Formats: sequence, C-alpha cells, structure tokens
Amino acid sequence: MSDYLWWRDGVIYQIYPRSFMDADNDGIGDLSGITQKLDYLQDLGIDAIWLSPVYLSPDVDFGYDVVNYREIDPKYGGMPAFDKFLQAAHQRNIHVIMDLVLNHTSDQHEWFQQSKLSKDNFYRDWYIWKKARNGGKFPNNWKSRFGGSGWEWDHATEEFYFHMFFKQQPDLNWRNPKVVDEILDMIKFWLDKGVDGFRLDVFNAYYKNINFADNPFKLGITKFDQQNHINDSDQPEMFDFLQKFRQLLDSYPERYSVGETFMGDHHTAAKYVGDQALHAAFDFSFINGRYKASSFYKSIQQWEDVLDQKGWPNYFLNNHDDPRSATRYTRSEDDERLKVLATLLLTLRGTPFLYYGEEIGMRDIPVLRKSDVLDPVGRHFWPFYKGRDGCRSPMQWNADPYAGFSEHEPWLPVHANHEWRNVESQQHEQNSLLNYYKKIIKIRKTTPALQKGMYLPITYEPHKILAYTRQTSQQTALIALNFSKKNVGLILSSQFVTGDWTLLISNKRDSLPPIRDRKIMLAGNEALVILQG
Ligand code: NOJ
Repeated sequence: MSDYLWWRDGVIYQIYPRSFMDADNDGIGDLSGITQKLDYLQDLGIDAIWLSPVYLSPDVDFGYDVVNYREIDPKYGGMPAFDKFLQAAHQRNIHVIMDLVLNHTSDQHEWFQQSKLSKDNFYRDWYIWKKARNGGKFPNNWKSRFGGSGWEWDHATEEFYFHMFFKQQPDLNWRNPKVVDEILDMIKFWLDKGVDGFRLDVFNAYYKNINFADNPFKLGITKFDQQNHINDSDQPEMFDFLQKFRQLLDSYPERYSVGETFMGDHHTAAKYVGDQALHAAFDFSFINGRYKASSFYKSIQQWEDVLDQKGWPNYFLNNHDDPRSATRYTRSEDDERLKVLATLLLTLRGTPFLYYGEEIGMRDIPVLRKSDVLDPVGRHFWPFYKGRDGCRSPMQWNADPYAGFSEHEPWLPVHANHEWRNVESQQHEQNSLLNYYKKIIKIRKTTPALQKGMYLPITYEPHKILAYTRQTSQQTALIALNFSKKNVGLILSSQFVTGDWTLLISNKRDSLPPIRDRKIMLAGNEALVILQG
C-alpha cells in the first residue's frame, strides 16, 4: 500500500533484551543475539522493534535505572553492537524504538553523584531535594511506587531526595530548564543515529506539583494506592515539554513516540495524544481485563470513544511488567484462547504491540521461593506480590537445555515447557500458534479494511461473542470471536447476509461457514474473519 506508515499500519514487537537471545553465551541476552534473530522477526511480519532499555545500567531495576543515556551497556555489546543491530534491522525494513527512562536516572549517574556532593553543586538542582519538615519529618506524604516513602534522607547534605521508584532511581527535576535541554539534546543524538522512535517510561510523572502539596487519601490496598496521585503526576507543564519533544521528532521523517501512561486510565492516556503531543499512549485496560467478550468490548469502546478521531489507538496484551496473557487467560497448555486473542489484537483499528514469546504462547515461569526472586519489587512485596520475573524468562527457541537462548545457564530459568513449546517445533507444526500469528499478521497487512477501516461493533452477547466489522468504502471485514468453549450462533443484521463473503482466517475451519437464517454458528473458542469486497 502506497501510503503505508510503519507505526500506524504495522506491527510493533517488544523485546526485553536480557531475555531474547544470548549470542555471547554469558547467560544474558544481547544485541548481537537480537541481530541474529532479525530474519525470524522479518518472517513473522513485524515492522518495528521496541527495545526495553539497553543503556549503561547497574540493573537495580534491570535497565530502568540509567547511568548514561548515550552509552549502550557492554553486557549488550556496547555501541558497536547497537550500530550493527540498527543497520541490520533497517536493511530488513524493521524500525527501532528505544525506551526512554526519563522520570529518573540511576543513583550511579554522574549527575546524581555530583548532585549529592553539596547543596551548591551545579547538578544539585537536577534532582528533587527538600529539607525535612519540623522534627525530621518527610517533606510531604508522597510514596514510592515500589514501597515505602518516596523520600530518602541523604546524611551528607542533610536533605531528602525524591524517588517515585527505588531509592536507587532518584527523580529528575524537570522544572530545571537545563535538565530539559540536556534531555532534548540526548534525544537528538539518537535521532541522528537513525533511531525511529521512542517509548517514554512513566512520562506523566516527570513533573511534580510546584508546591509539593500532599496527595489526598483514597481507598486502596497498598499505601501507594491509598493516595490520589494528583500532585506527583499529570501536571500541566508536561504539555510544554511534549510540544518541544514532538517538534524535535517532527523535524525528522516518520518518527514515532508512545508513552507509558502511569497510573492513569484511558482518559489520562488520551489527554497526551495529538499533533502537539505524543503519537500514542498506552491504555492498560486489556492487561487488567478478564477473558470475556464484554470486558474486551468495553475496553475497545471506551478507547475508541475517548480518542475520538484525534489519535490512532494501540492495543497490547502483554509487556514486561505484567503476567503474560497466556498465564492470565489459560490454565492449561491449550492455545485456542490465544488464537482468539491474536485475532482480536490483529484486527482492531490501532497499532498492535506484541511482546516477545507471545507468538508461541509463552507462559510465565513459576516463582515459588522468595530466595529465587530477582525482581526487587517481588522481593519487597513477597508473598503478596511475587514480582515480574515470571513474564521475563528466556525466549524459547528450541528444545535444548537452555531453550536455544544460550549455552550458558540463563539469568532467569527457562520455562519447563520449552521442551515442546518453542519456535522450532511451532515452525513445523501447521496449526501452531506461531503459524497462526504469521498468517493473521500477513492478512492484516494485505487487507486495507483491517488496517484502516472504521471499527463498528456489531453486537456481543455478554461473555460469549465479540463481533465487529472494519470497513472502508471498498471492503468490509467481519470479525467474530467466540470467548466461550461452546458453539454459539451469531445473528447478523440483514445488511451482512447478502453479498459474497470469503474466509480470511479461522482457527476452526478451512472454508466459509454457512449463513442460515441470518445466523453464523461459531465453534467453541472460534475466531473467524470473513471479507466482503
Ligand atoms: C515502568 C517500567 O515499565 C518498569 O519496568 C519500571 O520498573 C518502572 N517504569 C520504573 O522505571
């Protein structure tokens, strides 16, 4: 298609670099490993890779604590490996999205090391420092998302600094124009290198309330949830920065930005999308929803409504912070539900994001003992929350002892099911989830209605069928997803009964189902896509 725009019409694939492919066999994935697997990704049909952070980092939060924004960590192969990766990706027409972690740096970052030296250091005001309140109390009631107070006492200079996450992740002071200038300059550095876009980590937390007012109380489980975060996030100044950021991006061709909306819902996410702001922001309702037609229906409808033509939606079922969809929605090793979900993701109006391993139905590794947990968030909240190791296990390439990920014992264990659930075996099995993903990605890319068509819900029977059309002036695609394991009939309005339909894909049949008395019978767990025009 001539007006093809990669980030709008394509598919984006998130890679957690520690876990994708380990070329140097040290147990940790690396950029050369990803480069080796680019042919696999090209064959899958993706248009872009979002790389979770690969900058220099002490890995307190596995890359989300950056020591130098202009350097690639040697464990990933350093800048030479990055340059090769970028070039090899571009040769295959695969775009590269970097993760920008700008709410905070690592405490090992040179800026913070300087900042804590003395109150009059040049970098002091690059972070958020505050005096104690009477009698040594915290400056206000703000908490850390990762547990405890958000304020950490510095004995040397006798002030607190603020950290929304771990104390090793001090928050930058975005009200300091020098910080903003430095960051924009760094972003330019990556744009000049040819990077195609950015995912902004917790972007709506950059600016804090200028008066450092307390957050009001609300009901919630953790102390953090028991606050209404009106003062430590979503401040109006964010829009000024986004405007500058967007101007910079737009001075290069076809660059893209997507923000990770922190704590907000679809309304919050949509607020930051537009021509003077981000291209897209994440709404997490698919992650939080249940395996029910009504739950997905509601999430889609509210996202479509709130974006209201002003932005292009995006959808994802997985990421590196939440249990995998296969673990959330299936208790067995059966993949039929995952085919229904793949069909949903790849036929909606909006950019689909996949997370490595989703295409082979990877399940979370079990996390059984506190002593095995690597994610510090899991260690902190154990046993109420076991952390994020589960969804970060090594990619399952084949049945080898370390799943073809490495010859060295990997940093996290491989899932025991890798012996049969892996890329190699699914490549050979005609009806595998992997082949289903490949097929539906291809169908999406060759069917204008699925790429650009309007989204029109048909009907849904609560908890059973979710059905909608995607329509252009030339084509109508009808998508019917049976979320139950029983056969269910979908009643169509008369406009859909006439005309010639062709079958695009189904996980349960090879030819068009009959339409009798305006009814299509769907098999249990069937995903069906048919096309007119
Ligand atoms: C959101 C990231 O997705 C998560 O992995 C990280 O721990 C926090 N932001 C802090 O950067």
